[in-house]
Amino acid sequence: MTQQPVGQQSASQAPRVVLGVSGGIAAYKSCELLRRLTESGHDVTVVPTAAALAFVGAPTWSALSGKQVSAEVWHDVHEVPHVRIGQAADLVVVAPATADLLAKAAHGIADDLLTNTLLTARCPVVFAPAMHTEMWEHPATQANVATLRSRGAIVIEPAEGRLTGADTGKGRLPDPVEIFEVARDVLARASSGGVVGGVVDDLAGRHVVVSAGGTREYLDPVRFLGNRSSGLQGIALARTAVARGAEVTLVAANVTLPEPAGVKVVRVETTAELRDAVLSAAVTADAVVMAAAPADFRPATVSEAKIKKTDDSAVPEIDLVQNPDILAELSHHRPRDGMVVVGFAAETGDEEGTVLDHAAAKLARKGCDLLVVNDVSGGKVFGSPENEAVVLGSDGRSTGVPRGSKAALAHVIWDAVTSRWQTA
Ligand code: CTP
Repeated sequence: MTQQPVGQQSASQAPRVVLGVSGGIAAYKSCELLRRLTESGHDVTVVPTAAALAFVGAPTWSALSGKQVSAEVWHDVHEVPHVRIGQAADLVVVAPATADLLAKAAHGIADDLLTNTLLTARCPVVFAPAMHTEMWEHPATQANVATLRSRGAIVIEPAEGRLTGADTGKGRLPDPVEIFEVARDVLARASSGGVVGGVVDDLAGRHVVVSAGGTREYLDPVRFLGNRSSGLQGIALARTAVARGAEVTLVAANVTLPEPAGVKVVRVETTAELRDAVLSAAVTADAVVMAAAPADFRPATVSEAKIKKTDDSAVPEIDLVQNPDILAELSHHRPRDGMVVVGFAAETGDEEGTVLDHAAAKLARKGCDLLVVNDVSGGKVFGSPENEAVVLGSDGRSTGVPRGSKAALAHVIWDAVTSRWQTA
């Protein structure tokens, strides 16, 4: 499956996105989301609530979208906007979604243009909530979120961090660039025909754990053994899982890329830390995808002080010991029945066998359900936005994924995981 390019369409072909904005301070951040959407070729209609207009004025939304903007159903009544806007939409994104807006949406209240639009829309709907932690955690809000999710909406978990005042906690609007990525992914998938039965949230109710990046094994306080893994494929897996409605934990080893929206990120450095974080998150997981590159070896001892050069030019000897194999451990001792475990194999062919020969042996040795095989001859994959792979299954299935975006490969992996759940 490939992502739908949306950059070059004419206005009539451009995907129609409704950007709903409700009344929270994070409304100003949605100007950036709107910009991203319009600049990437979407036809965007902004529908703010009256409270949102107290934070950002209609002229701003109008100038950025190139369209008239109203919060009310009483403008241009002859065009029946309270029905037409929702019916015509390919995607509705509400960012920020306040506790009040989520409550109205969950209960079908329609007292302004945005809530009417939500009732008439038959396309995918993405909510990006933002509010104070207490409001987010309140049972009323949590019940409303559960209701919306049960009806197929994608509700992105808020980020943790600084809130309106001096306080911090869960409730921040995720970075608009990352909300844009989720919106684009949902839209691309819904319009590409790759969605079974029109259901975009096929991972709803599932907890998936993804590891990403490369571990560092310290020699002393400043030096480490590391590897070239960027974390891009793991980030793509996390992002696409959010867009398919999953609860996602990303165990990130030294990843410097922006955090995807709606993802719980656990930051680690070493393989030992990665193992602890993955095994602890796996206790409630339906699937674990080991996209990280943990170092196979670590120095036997870590010097507390920086290792110095000596006068006699002697080179220090480094003793290495083997690290635990997290993938094999998890595959052979699964904390939950029905859990699907996915590994990655970066292989090169040699005189002992082809890339696929080595991969098939690794799949059997590690005991995982799926192995995503990359041919890394010549360092082809590292840091690249694209990937090409074969997904091998322990059931003998094999799916070739042609060169394409890491998001496209991620979707094939989630498709394979979903099909393993169904046959488990
Ligand atoms: N992996 C792991 N723990 C390790 C090393 C690797 O969980 N200590 C996982 C990786 O996340 C990946 C898979 O195992 O999903 C394959 O990693 P790879 O390095 O290709 O496998 P190795 O067992 O190290 O085999 P090789 O001898 O080919 O290096």
